[in-house]
Amino acid sequence: MNLLKTKSYINGKWVIGNAKLKVINPFDGTLVAEVESLSRSQCKDAIQAASDAFKIWKKYAAHERAAILRKWYELQMEHAEELAHILTLEQGKPLAEALGEIKYGASFVEWFSEEARRVYGDIIPGHHRDKRITAIKQPVGVVAAITPWNFPNAMITRKVAPALAAGCTVVIKPAELTPLSALALAELADRAGFPPGVVNILVSKDASEIGKEMCENRLVRKLSFTGSTRVGKILLKQCADTVKKVSMELGGNAPFIVFDDADIDLAIQGAIASKYRNAGQTCVCTNRLFVQEGVYEAFLAKYTVAVKELTIGNGVKEGVVIGPMIEEKAVISVEKVVADAVKKGGELLTGGKRHGATGSLLFEPTVIANANRKMLAFKEEIFGPVTPIFKFKTEAEVIELANDTPYGLASYFYGRDYARIWRIAEALEYGMVGINTGMISTAVAPFGGIKESGFGREGSKYGMDDYLEIKYMCWGGVE
Ligand code: SIN
Repeated sequence: MNLLKTKSYINGKWVIGNAKLKVINPFDGTLVAEVESLSRSQCKDAIQAASDAFKIWKKYAAHERAAILRKWYELQMEHAEELAHILTLEQGKPLAEALGEIKYGASFVEWFSEEARRVYGDIIPGHHRDKRITAIKQPVGVVAAITPWNFPNAMITRKVAPALAAGCTVVIKPAELTPLSALALAELADRAGFPPGVVNILVSKDASEIGKEMCENRLVRKLSFTGSTRVGKILLKQCADTVKKVSMELGGNAPFIVFDDADIDLAIQGAIASKYRNAGQTCVCTNRLFVQEGVYEAFLAKYTVAVKELTIGNGVKEGVVIGPMIEEKAVISVEKVVADAVKKGGELLTGGKRHGATGSLLFEPTVIANANRKMLAFKEEIFGPVTPIFKFKTEAEVIELANDTPYGLASYFYGRDYARIWRIAEALEYGMVGINTGMISTAVAPFGGIKESGFGREGSKYGMDDYLEIKYMCWGGVE
């Protein structure tokens, strides 16, 4: 494989570290590659390189930055199959889904290559006769990005493309479990022709030291993180001393509500797509499924049949739609959620255990009826292929249940009543609402959360704002 790289990419060069990191295939535990693991001082070098390169990159005309980004996008599309294969090997998600992620990831690069040309300012009517006011937008500077293992490709492009389009330079630390997709992107960035130091991708098994350097280094002007709320809070504290601009895409606890007047078949399709994508390991996956009493029994029966049909196995095999979970501790955490639900009155309708031999990271797609708010499944992000189903009576009751969480990322509901659709969409305390759809992710919309799910928006015209500063100029003496 041409794009399988094992060194980090800093200042336009492939760099070795002082240790090695093993990348393991989560399906069968085999070694995919041994990657160089870099140190904190090498991270500091990468930041310095990005800072030097910023002086040059910010001066590129917007159309010049756009052209290199466009080339990077085209290379990603040209090599989509190989990128998807690498992704499945290191992360486990089925090939078709991996290919979907590669195209999704590339779409951010395409979108922001176009947005690069549209960073407009304002002319504001002055506050005195002799005053004129203008506001311009400028790149924030060096951006550090810390990205997760569940989307080893798309969570990088979603941050890096707007940063580069704005004129920032970047240092990226991908998750230790899935560095190969990131390094493949680095190779394609090199071929696309970014000047040295503009894109730096650094792999390290010492996540906490690299995180500290990124947060504490004054040359870094912006930190963008996707991952757990727990780690997000640590990074936020660490960024306080240097008062950095910060974006946080953190955990979720998505409600999925089905009202009596919903199209049940469409709701089942939407819930399955949202719940079982990436074996339930996304921040926007349905976490709690609320079904109104009039359709509860019918929904339960049909949903369980549909879940039983999902094929689980090796992601490289044709027809598999659910791959392994990422690592042992992820399976243990899901087992705990299921055991807790059963103990507290949940009825296991299908699944509930590992699939295959001991040590397998496959977890059967699971449905638990009679769920209630005492369960862990109500309070915590499950991050696995388990659907707890709750019965509700009224609109007021379900809104209270849905909002009873510190999280506020994605939410979904199905129904037909026009007025109720507006009421529910407005009442849900979430950054994103899917109405009669379980799939909301796209480069053209602002992805992001509220409450403890974080802040900042990724994708869409708003996605550039996080990488720009506004400068206001007051022009006096204009008689
Ligand atoms: C995530 O799980 O963090 C991202 C999911 C998405 O982009 O759809």
